[in-house]
Amino acid sequence: MAHIIKTCLGLVIPILFACSLVVARDIADGGNDQPGKCNQKPDQPQDNSNPIQPNITNSDQPDNPNPNQPQDNPNAIKPSIANLDQPDVPQADQPHDNPNPIQPNITTPDQPDNPNPDQPQVNPNITIPDQPDNPNPDKPQDNPNPIQPNISNPDQPDNPNPGQPQDNPNPVQPDIPNPDQPPDNPNPDQPNNPNPDQPQDNPNPDQPGDNQKPGIDQPTDPNAAVADGGSDYTAPPLETGFLGEWVIDNPNAGVAAMQLQLMPNDKLVWYDTTSLGPSGIKMQPEGNCPINPDAKNQPDCYAHAIAYDWRTSAVRTLTLQGDAWCSSGNLWPNGNLAATGGTATGDKAIRMIPNNDDPKADFETRLNVLADVRWYASNVVLPDGSAVVLGGRGSFSYEIVPPSLDFKPRRFDMPFLKETTTPDLGPGRPVENNLYPFQFLLPDGNIFLYANNRAICFEPQTGNVVREYPELAGGSRNYPPSGQSALLPLKLTADNKVINTEVVICGGNSPDAYKVVDARHVTEKQFMPALRDCHRIQPLNQDATWTDEEQMPSGRVMGDLLDLPNADLLMLNGAQSGTSGWEDATDANLTPLLYSPTKPMGNRFKPLNPTTIARMYHSCSALLPDTRILVAGSNMHQFYTFDTQFPTELRVEKFSPPYLDPALDPNRPIIDAKGSDLVLQYGKPFKIAATLQSNETMVLGEIMVTMVYPPFTTHGFSQNQRLLIPALTSIENNVINAVAPGGGTVAPPGYYMLFVNRLGVPGPSVWVHIE
Ligand SMILES: *[C@@H]1O[C@H](CO)[C@@H](O)[C@H](O)[C@H]1NC(C)=O
Ligand SMILES: *[C@@H]1O[C@H](CO)[C@@H](O)[C@H](O)[C@H]1NC(C)=O
Ligand SMILES: *[C@@H]1O[C@H](CO)[C@@H](O)[C@H](O)[C@H]1NC(C)=O
Ligand SMILES: *[C@@H]1O[C@H](CO)[C@@H](O)[C@H](O)[C@H]1NC(C)=O
Ligand SMILES: *[C@@H]1O[C@H](CO)[C@@H](O)[C@H](O)[C@H]1NC(C)=O
Repeated sequence: MAHIIKTCLGLVIPILFACSLVVARDIADGGNDQPGKCNQKPDQPQDNSNPIQPNITNSDQPDNPNPNQPQDNPNAIKPSIANLDQPDVPQADQPHDNPNPIQPNITTPDQPDNPNPDQPQVNPNITIPDQPDNPNPDKPQDNPNPIQPNISNPDQPDNPNPGQPQDNPNPVQPDIPNPDQPPDNPNPDQPNNPNPDQPQDNPNPDQPGDNQKPGIDQPTDPNAAVADGGSDYTAPPLETGFLGEWVIDNPNAGVAAMQLQLMPNDKLVWYDTTSLGPSGIKMQPEGNCPINPDAKNQPDCYAHAIAYDWRTSAVRTLTLQGDAWCSSGNLWPNGNLAATGGTATGDKAIRMIPNNDDPKADFETRLNVLADVRWYASNVVLPDGSAVVLGGRGSFSYEIVPPSLDFKPRRFDMPFLKETTTPDLGPGRPVENNLYPFQFLLPDGNIFLYANNRAICFEPQTGNVVREYPELAGGSRNYPPSGQSALLPLKLTADNKVINTEVVICGGNSPDAYKVVDARHVTEKQFMPALRDCHRIQPLNQDATWTDEEQMPSGRVMGDLLDLPNADLLMLNGAQSGTSGWEDATDANLTPLLYSPTKPMGNRFKPLNPTTIARMYHSCSALLPDTRILVAGSNMHQFYTFDTQFPTELRVEKFSPPYLDPALDPNRPIIDAKGSDLVLQYGKPFKIAATLQSNETMVLGEIMVTMVYPPFTTHGFSQNQRLLIPALTSIENNVINAVAPGGGTVAPPGYYMLFVNRLGVPGPSVWVHIE
C-alpha cells in the first residue's frame, strides 16, 4: 500500500495553496454570490449568472468528422498505460469488465407472442427466485396499492401533472413578512454554538426552553460535541423503537436498476444497458424490437430501461440507445433527465427523457456529443442549470454540458483525476480506485471533489484548483472499492447564510482490495473486509481537516447513503467484503443504518431491520415523496443470471424508516398544496400550509422544513443529492413562513421535494421549483 501511495504522490502536480489567505469564517456566503472560503481568488465571480455558452468551440477540438469513431482528443492526457479506453474486451461487442464472459441462460430469440400486449411481458425463461423470505408474513408481499393508509392527505387534490407546479393561490410575498422575527441564528458571524444541544434561540417564547415532553428521550450527553447544521428544535426529536419495515413493491420490474433517478413527475427512471442481452421484460408494445448496435445490429425485443410509477408499481418500457453501462446523469432545471456517457456506442452520448406525463415519452439520444469518454463519471448541477460531467475511465477531464441536447461542451483538463488513479497492473488490468468520484457543489460556488484518498476544491468555470485538502488515510473510497459519501444537510439562516457545510465519507476498502478479488488480476478471489470507518470534513473552513466520525457497526462497500426528510441519513445496500465489479463482492450487508450526524458521538449509527434481499453491485435506492425508500437492482454478473449465489435481482422493495412508526402519526404534518407556495424565488419568503394529523397547532421550535434534491444514483453514489433546511420566520395558523434558499450555489435550480417535519417526524412531500 505504501508503495502505491508513493507512486501516486510521484505524479502529483504542484497545486497552489492560497486558501490560507482567505479569512476564516464559519458561515459561507451561500447564495450571495460572494467568494467563499474554498476560493483563493476573491476577485473571481463565483456565480456566473449567464455562463451558458453553448456554441463555444474548443479551438483545439475540431468537430469530429466521423461521429461513429471515437474522437481523439488532442488535449487529453494520455493514460500512462495503453488501452485504458479499450476495455480489455477481446471482441468489440463484448461489454467491458469480463475476461470470461458467462453465457447467459436466457438467450431467447423465439419468445411466444404476448397475448396481452398491454401487459408487460416477462421473459418466461427468467425464473424469479422464490420469495419465501418475507419477514412480515402478515403483510402482502405484492402490494398493488402500497401507499401507506395513514399518510393520506384528503386536502391534497390530485395534481394531474405532478411535474408542473400547481396553481399557487398564495403568490410569493415580496418582503420578509415578519421583520421583527429574528433569523434562526441571531449572530451569524458566531456560528459555532459550543453547546448545540441547547437551542441557541428559542423562537417560541411561550414554550419553555427546556421543554420536556413526556416520553421523549433526552440525548444521553447534552454536552457532547455535536455538529452544527442540525435542527433548531426546542425539544429533542421524537424517538421510536420501530426499526423499519420492508415490503416487496413489485416481484419483477424486468430491468435491474444500475442507474436510477426519481423524476419530478413521480416516475423513477432506471436502466442498465443495451449490451447485456435479454432482460426480464420485453419492449412494449409487443413486436417493438429495435435494431441494437450493441447486440451485433440484431433486433432486440428486450427493454433495458423503464419508467416505474412508485404509486402504482406500474412499469413502462423505454428505449435506451447507446451503451449506458456505468454512466452518469443529472436533472435539468425543468426536471428532464439527462443520461450521460457509458461505454462503447454510448461513451459520449447524452440521452434526455422529458419530465412530463406523456405516456409515450421516451429518451431522445445524441451519440458522440460529449467531449470525452464518460464511463464511470459523475455529474454535478451548477447554479445556471448546466452540469459538470467529470472523469471516467481514462478521461482526466471534465466538461460543462448545458441543459440542452444541442450544445458544444466546454472541456477542461483535470490532472487530479490522473494523479489519483491507482496504476494499472498491465494492459486491460485497471485498478484505478478513483472512478465515480464524489463531487459536491459548495455554497461558495466551487466544487469539492474527492477521488481515491484525496480531495480538492476547484472552480467549475475555469478548472482552477483553488485548494487541496489533507489526504484521507486508511483506504480507497471510490470505484471499485466504492465507499459512500454525502453532503450533510445545509441549514440556512433567514439572511441566506449556510451554517456548516460538511461532507461525510464512509467505508470503502483497501487500495489492494480490487487487485486481490477481480478475475482480471487473480484466479483465486480474496474478498477483503470492507472498511467501517467514517470521516467528516468542513471544506469551507480555513484549516479544514478530516475528523473521525463514529465507526459504522459493519463494513460496507457499494452502499447508498441517502438523505432522509428529517435530516438524518440512511445507509443501505452493498456488501461487507470485496469490491465493485463482476462477482467481486460477497457477504451482503442486509442491515440499513440510520445515520444521525448531529447526535452525540456514540449515538449516530443505528442498525435497522434487515432486508432479506442482497443488493450488491449495480443496485440502487431512492427517497420517495411519501418518505419511504425504494430499493431496486443488483446484478453482479455480466448478463442476467439467476441460478447463482447473488442472482440478478428484479424485485423492487420499499423500506419504511423508523419515522413511519404508526405511533408517530399524530405528529405527521400533511401539507396543503393548495395553500402553499410551490414556486420559490431565491431569497424570498414563501409559505407552506400544513396540518398535523393530531390537529394540534404547529408551533415554531417544533417544525423543520427540508428540501431534498432528487439525486441520480448509481454505483453507490447519489450524484447531486443535497438537503436544505430553510429558515422559518413564523408559523401563523398552521401556515409556515419560510425563506427560500438565497441562490443557485446553495440550491441549484430545479425541483425539490419539500417536507415538513414535527420533531423529526416527516409527512409526505410536495414538489417545489426554484430557479
Ligand atoms: C448554437 O448551436 C445550435 C445547434 O447547432 C444552433 O441551433 C443555435 O442557433 C446556435 N446558437 C448560436 C447562438 O449560435
Ligand atoms: C444454465 O441452466 C442450466 C439448466 O437450468 C443449469 O444447469 C446451468 O447451471 C446454467 N448455467 C448457467 C451458467 O447459469
Ligand atoms: C428457454 O427455455 C426453454 C426450455 O428450457 C429452452 O428451450 C430455450 O432455449 C430457453 N431459452 C432460453 C431461455 O434460454
Ligand atoms: C393507522 O392509524 C390507525 C389509527 O391511528 C391505526 O389503528 C392503524 O394501525 C394505522 N395503520 C397503519 C398501517 O399504520
Ligand atoms: C382532526 O380534525 C378532523 C377534521 O375536523 C377530524 O376529522 C379528525 O377526526 C381530527 N383528528 C383528531 C385526531 O382529532
